[in-house]
Amino acid sequence: MKRIAVLTSGGDSPGMNPAIRSITRTGLHKGLEIIGIRNGYQGLLDNEFITLDTHLVSGRIRDAGTFLQTSRCPDFVKEEGVRRALDILADHRIDGLVVIGGDGSLRGARDLHRCGLPVIGLPGTIDNDIYGTDMGIGVDTALNTIIDLVDMIRATAASHRRCFVVEVMGRGSGYLALMTTISTGSQVAVIPEFRMNMESIVRVLGHRFSAHYNNSVIIVAEGVCQGAEFMERLIATSKVKQEVRLTVLGHIQRGGTPTHYDRLLASRMGEMAVLALISGESGSMVSTINGKTQLCDFNDILERRKALPSDAIRLARNIGIEIGDVVES
Ligand code: F6P
Repeated sequence: MKRIAVLTSGGDSPGMNPAIRSITRTGLHKGLEIIGIRNGYQGLLDNEFITLDTHLVSGRIRDAGTFLQTSRCPDFVKEEGVRRALDILADHRIDGLVVIGGDGSLRGARDLHRCGLPVIGLPGTIDNDIYGTDMGIGVDTALNTIIDLVDMIRATAASHRRCFVVEVMGRGSGYLALMTTISTGSQVAVIPEFRMNMESIVRVLGHRFSAHYNNSVIIVAEGVCQGAEFMERLIATSKVKQEVRLTVLGHIQRGGTPTHYDRLLASRMGEMAVLALISGESGSMVSTINGKTQLCDFNDILERRKALPSDAIRLARNIGIEIGDVVES
């Protein structure tokens, strides 16, 4: 193993830069050359390779986003795209690859591994929807960003005695919505894992209004519906006495300065990815389980759906958060 390449793919997440920095510094420390591929799998196909050194990654531990840039690349899903990528990597004498990204990006990494290239993946997505790891790189920062924003919304909500509907990201997962409903002291989480119960939601709001609480906040996961659609349905019940306003947090959720947790997680995972490649590992993602950094085989994680943490569901119910009804499977 002499030359390792790294790329970031899919939606950026805060912590990708610290991960690239850790991979670069660990690789150089071990006597390897580290190559950065710009713009994800698209950049790989477009031959966008640069040599990374300590100057290029200097200060990156503090930066959100990914300085290598990223893309969603439909061509890479096709067999022809994977074959072309392998040829290009061979031209650049790449012996091993680290892919940082979400579910789709890790599938691309598995395809390359299956064709014989040593590949290690890192879970880089704010959604926390990757099976086999307690946390992805960027999740903690996104949670903290959402907390800051909802706290701000609450100030204006309280001044006007309003109810706010706040739409958060998460793709098909309700993780960000559930966790931040708990940590912002909000009243309702509308999440894809449970069936929304509009009657219960209206009851919660009615209770808040008659008990003279000065605000209510409903966090809606984008995986259920758009916040605007939820708000329409809520108002259509004609049972809500408070004024209702909507805030869609959008991509701001991905732009927070990486927290201590994400800087450390990304640094640990980046280090392990390089050490794993050096020791001959391939076809695995670096994960964190109960605080321990470890490797999980792609085949054990990529086809499985990650469940919400059961202790968080219990906590939400026990402290009176309305999260909807269990869906029978
Ligand atoms: O997967 C990360 C994520 O931010 C999702 O939460 C969101 O649905 C999606 O990416 C947005 O994608 P894009 O940046 O392509 O609009």
